[in-house]
Amino acid sequence: MTAHFYETAHQSGEKIFAVAPMIDWTDRHCRVLHRQLSSRALLYTEMVVADAIIHGPRDRLLGYSDIEHPVALQLGGSDAAKLSEAIRIAADYGYDEINLNVGCPSDRVQSGTFGACLMRDAAHVADLVTAMKKVSPVPVTVKCRIGVDDQEPSEVLPDFLQRMIGAGADAIWIHARKAWLQGLSPKENREIPPLDYELVHRMKRENPNVFLGINGGIKDLDEAARHLTVMDGVMLGRAAYQNTGLLAGVDALVAGSNPAGVGTVQPDWLALRDAMIAYAETVMASGGRLHHVTRHMVGLFQGFAGARRFRQILSSEATKPGAGVEIIEAAFAAVDLNPQPEQGDGDAITGDAMAGDEMRGGERIAFDICLKG
Ligand SMILES: Cc1cc2nc3c(=O)[nH]c(=O)nc-3n(C[C@H](O)[C@H](O)[C@H](O)COP(=O)(O)O)c2cc1C
Repeated sequence: MTAHFYETAHQSGEKIFAVAPMIDWTDRHCRVLHRQLSSRALLYTEMVVADAIIHGPRDRLLGYSDIEHPVALQLGGSDAAKLSEAIRIAADYGYDEINLNVGCPSDRVQSGTFGACLMRDAAHVADLVTAMKKVSPVPVTVKCRIGVDDQEPSEVLPDFLQRMIGAGADAIWIHARKAWLQGLSPKENREIPPLDYELVHRMKRENPNVFLGINGGIKDLDEAARHLTVMDGVMLGRAAYQNTGLLAGVDALVAGSNPAGVGTVQPDWLALRDAMIAYAETVMASGGRLHHVTRHMVGLFQGFAGARRFRQILSSEATKPGAGVEIIEAAFAAVDLNPQPEQGDGDAITGDAMAGDEMRGGERIAFDICLKG
């Protein structure tokens, strides 16, 4: 078997930058957008429940475009046989990695006994990883929290990691905060439990030979670069989605070529526009709607003059029946592409604006799709 990209990165001393799995956000259209901005970022799917893959519409749940590589499929589940079956089915789709979700605190997920509540049963998660490794042709990785509820992270995390390493996990991505399984919504569980970067850094120092990546609250590439002085990988979720342009600096960041300037790299905006127009045409030709593509583009142009108009055009015009790709052209035309990004229109989109009710509704719908198939 040829070396997988975690090994290749390790051998060449390169770091890995990942865009986090995010239900309702990192669908295939979102990933195509992100790929236009970085050829190197590792892109994660939304979590897909193993049962849904086994019983549900496989192409809808697993289909994606070739240009998305490297792309990792995140699975939700806690039954070794079901996870193995899902991996066998997904193998035909050619994902570059299979990741197990041990971090999601949603009620729906708890009722299925998987996600973050698995942090309470490291031995079982290790058995799952062992079973998944047996059938997976690609790396098997885990995304976890530092603990749940009243667990003491500095006690449970080292043990959890040792068990994952013992089971042969190829990489572990750690969201550097606990999840509270009772009383906090999924959104609150991404904000309220405090971040403990130092603990995660210590785990890396104590485990030099296994790939450990950090996630949680990292706002930009300068912060990411600081984590990468210690960690093997860095994973951004909300910042990457809500300020998509920052992905333009990722290739330089992981290559280590321009660590000081990565935060200021600007995309080739016109090439991006043309690529997204061409992609949206193919989506619509196969029955999709313009809005399926453009809804992920509202996080472009953070702070640019004209960004507000850009978002207005995308969110009002692109949703109308019969809307065509000329809407994308019109939206880009509304933006001053040569500004200092700081001199914006004073209407920079905030995390809450996107992660509000619409997002919670989206999460609920996505869980329904995942769970019911
Ligand atoms: C809308 C949304 C959906 C999410 N869905 C998932 C998911 O499917 N699987 C998962 O492991 N984490 C999920 N997360 C958590 C993120 O992967 C990430 O761990 C979290 O947002 C913290 O990283 P950040 O501060 O960089 O956003 C989701 C987060 C958001 C905002």
